[in-house]
Amino acid sequence: MKAGADTRIRIFADLEALSQAAADFLVSLSRDAAVSKGGFAVAFSGGSTPQRFFSLLATSPYREQIAWASMYIFWADERCVPREHPDSNYKLAHEALLSKVPIPEENIHRIKGEKNPEQAAREYEDSLRQFFGTHPFPVFDLIILGVGVDGHTASLFPGTTAVHERTRIALPVYAEVPKPSRVTLTLPVLNNAAQVLFLASGREKAVVLHEIHEDGNPKLYPAGLVRPVHGRLTWLIDRGAASLLAEQTFPR
Ligand code: 6PG
Repeated sequence: MKAGADTRIRIFADLEALSQAAADFLVSLSRDAAVSKGGFAVAFSGGSTPQRFFSLLATSPYREQIAWASMYIFWADERCVPREHPDSNYKLAHEALLSKVPIPEENIHRIKGEKNPEQAAREYEDSLRQFFGTHPFPVFDLIILGVGVDGHTASLFPGTTAVHERTRIALPVYAEVPKPSRVTLTLPVLNNAAQVLFLASGREKAVVLHEIHEDGNPKLYPAGLVRPVHGRLTWLIDRGAASLLAEQTFPR
């Protein structure tokens, strides 16, 4: 299955250009939401790819273009470590972005990685239910995801039971590899978002992207199972990650 008509794939020269496009994307969506509904709920991911995107959002001209008081921040996943730990996804976003912009503390809904994974997942589910009030799943305005070379996204790893979850909002993930344990949003939540944005950079992602976008995702990589039911799916990819995609998959 090739990338469907509902999937937009955009290719950029490098991570810098991709990060700028991601920042533009967020600014534009959050402006529309500020007018139409007065608030914007976004879930971030961890990993190395979004770091530059976070830094851009914290600097001009992006910083001034965002209504921080009506921006609500969540995470697609978290590693079960204290929030000061170098592996913490919260710490990554906090240092590069959240500590540098005038966002009210109460707008930041982190996953409590310092707790045991099941408890952290349950508390995160409660806070999502309370914030969104939508049943059975929250409707994020935007979820930003990455993809691993093994096809994982958020902390949904290939071949694990978490990928098949149909009722819970968030789950604990215990695995020998990768450690530490994690908490992740489930696939029904990712697929219930209004917009999902994948960021992928580097040649090491080329094979997995080819399998997802041109081979019909035969290995059922979780990243390839993200297909929002009512929302839109956009992949921002740099040339390295796109190097095995055919010309007709996307307009270059
Ligand atoms: C995490 C993630 C994870 C990440 C991918 C891509 O916390 O590790 O949320 O799903 O997005 O592993 O990571 P890179 O951007 O480092 O390639």
